[in-house]
Amino acid sequence: VDRLKTEFVSMVSHELRTPLTSIRGSLGLLAGGALGTLPTGALRMVSLALDSCARLTRLVNDILDIERIESGTMPMVMGHHEASVLIEEAAAQLQVLAVQAGVTLQVTGAQGMVHADADRVVQTLINLMNNAIKFSPPGSSVDVSSMAHGAFVEFRIGDHGRGIPEDKLDRIFSRFEQVDSSDARDKGGSGLGLAISRSVVDRLGGRIWAESVEGAGATFRFTLPRSARDLEPVSVPLAHLPVPTKRPVLRE
Ligand SMILES: Nc1ncnc2c1ncn2[C@@H]1O[C@H](COP(=O)(O)OP(=O)(O)OP(=O)(O)O)[C@@H](O)[C@H]1O
Ligand SMILES: [Mg+2]
Repeated sequence: VDRLKTEFVSMVSHELRTPLTSIRGSLGLLAGGALGTLPTGALRMVSLALDSCARLTRLVNDILDIERIESGTMPMVMGHHEASVLIEEAAAQLQVLAVQAGVTLQVTGAQGMVHADADRVVQTLINLMNNAIKFSPPGSSVDVSSMAHGAFVEFRIGDHGRGIPEDKLDRIFSRFEQVDSSDARDKGGSGLGLAISRSVVDRLGGRIWAESVEGAGATFRFTLPRSARDLEPVSVPLAHLPVPTKRPVLRE
C-alpha cells in the first residue's frame, strides 16, 4: 500500500509540472506588465499567486527528487571533493538567509576529502543548514564542521534552537514529518528536506542522524565515504630527503 501511495504521489507530482510552468509563465507576464500596467491591488494579488506557485513548484520538484534518488534513476556524479569547499559553497548560498534571521553561520573546522556527488552533498548541507537557521533564535550561531574519521568524513551542523523531542529524532527523516503541525505554516516548508537528505546520504554510502537536548538545540550529523586520495601518504619534496653519504657500489 505504501509503495502504491508513493507511486501515486509521484505520478501526480509529475503531471502537475507542466500546468504549473504555464501558470507561472502567465502570472510572470502579468506581473511584468506585458499586458498593461496593473492596478496596485491586482498586482499584489498576482504577486501572492506567484509566491504560491513557486512554493508548489518546489514541493513538486522535491517529491520528484526523492523518487529519482530512491529508485536510482538520478545519476550520481562521483568525484573527489574537499569538505571545506562543499561547506563554503553551501554557506555562501545561505548567507543572506542567515543575516535576515540574525543568525551567525560559522565554520568551526573543515577537514577531510570525500568521494561523493558534490551537488547532492551541497544540497544536503543546504537542507540541514537551512533548518538550523530556521529554528534558531536571533543572535545565536549555527556551527558547521567536518572531520575525517577512518574511512569516513563526518559533517556536523549544530544549532542553539528549540531542539527536537527524543521520540521525533528519527521520525523527522520521513516524508512530510514535522515536529509541530504548525511548522509548515509558521516556518514554511513541507517536511521533505530531511527525507531528501537521508535518501542522498544513503545512496552515497553514508549515514545521517540527529541528536538533541530538548530546548538546548539540535545537532545533525552525517558521514560520507572518505576519498582514497585523502588517505595517501604525503609525498616529501626531494630536497627534504636525507642525502646519502656514500653511494652504494655494485660489484660483480
Ligand atoms: N535544526 C532543527 N531544530 C529543530 N527542529 C528541526 C530542525 N531541523 C528539522 N527540524 C524539525 O524537523 C522537521 C522536518 O524537517 P524537514 O527539513 O524535513 O522539513 P521542513 O524544513 O519543515 O520543510 P522543507 O525542508 O521541505 O522546506 C521540521 O519541520 C522541524 O519540525
Ligand atoms: Mg527543511
